[in-house]
Amino acid sequence: MKRSLSGIKSTGIPHVGNYLGMIRPAIELQNDHEAFYFIADYHALTTEKDGKAIYDSTLSVAAYFLAFGLDPSKAALFRQSDVPEVTEMAWLLSSVYNMGSLERAHSYKAAKDLGKANELNHATFMYPVLMAADILIYNSDVVPVGADQLQHLEMTRDMASRFNAVYGELLKLPEAIVNENVATVPGTDGRKMSKSYDNTIEPLTTSKKLKKQIMSVVTDVKTLEEPKDPTHCNVFALYKLFATHDEIETMKGNYLAGNYGYGHAKLALFEKMDAYFTPFRENYTRLIENPQEIEDALTLGTERVRPVVEETMEKLRYAVGVGRRK
Ligand code: TYM
Repeated sequence: MKRSLSGIKSTGIPHVGNYLGMIRPAIELQNDHEAFYFIADYHALTTEKDGKAIYDSTLSVAAYFLAFGLDPSKAALFRQSDVPEVTEMAWLLSSVYNMGSLERAHSYKAAKDLGKANELNHATFMYPVLMAADILIYNSDVVPVGADQLQHLEMTRDMASRFNAVYGELLKLPEAIVNENVATVPGTDGRKMSKSYDNTIEPLTTSKKLKKQIMSVVTDVKTLEEPKDPTHCNVFALYKLFATHDEIETMKGNYLAGNYGYGHAKLALFEKMDAYFTPFRENYTRLIENPQEIEDALTLGTERVRPVVEETMEKLRYAVGVGRRK
């Protein structure tokens, strides 16, 4: 069975982009893959300095996976930091990877372009190395992600190739899995949905807040009567991700005919999303009130992945020459 692995940072609450781009496809893969999914709390440290916020977010993100149907008896769900060997592995990869390659990372360049030199920490620069360690330490075959992670996946393959060139064929080169329709889910302002753009929709918030977030989706200023262009509308773009083929065609007809306002379209989008997420919301609320249940799932997950980590690290330490030889 192929192994699927992915991670999500514990910075706040997941948004609809995280859900469609990664959480949902990752959970689907648990049925015919060996699934390893973790909450990247070490990666969250690059930007979040409030320890309690990272801890709370870790539990919320884990509760999201469980609420959406991750089955802990099939898939391993765990904290990145419960496997501290990934930081050791990152050091081994760092030792074969060039600074120049890391300087080309979008994540580093974006942080640098923000112009806050005092906030540009070394962990941000090293971010892709830790991510490669996350993937390579588990001999992963496939990595379900949104399009924004593709460069990191290329760098991971690059690091694995360089490591293998130096020490022999020890690391497996993983493949990214990106679902075309949801590769880049748009946010309320039409840019990529992202916490850093403050344009997110939270899937499992209350109906009231969900409605408020959807009502804030940016549109042009056409009047109710005017025909509208569905291909350039943020509301329609989001609706397409949740509606059936027939519902999409009906909405398209309404846009083109006129006498259909953006308020109507937003309400239709809200009703679709609310109906979709309500059953999961109930699971989430129950879980978040029972943190021990979440921790138990994480413990089970860690126990599951540990033998894989130990085997990899023993091989790698031997190959590079660190540690005691038995
Ligand atoms: P993160 O926490 O930013 O996002 C988690 C996942 O959600 C996807 N995603 C989106 N997909 C579609 N449309 C969007 N608007 C959207 N926004 C986010 C991301 O592509 C990602 O798959 N570096 C990773 C975490 C990580 C990781 C790993 C992932 C650490 N180690 C190892 C895979 C393998 C990140 O910051 O994801």
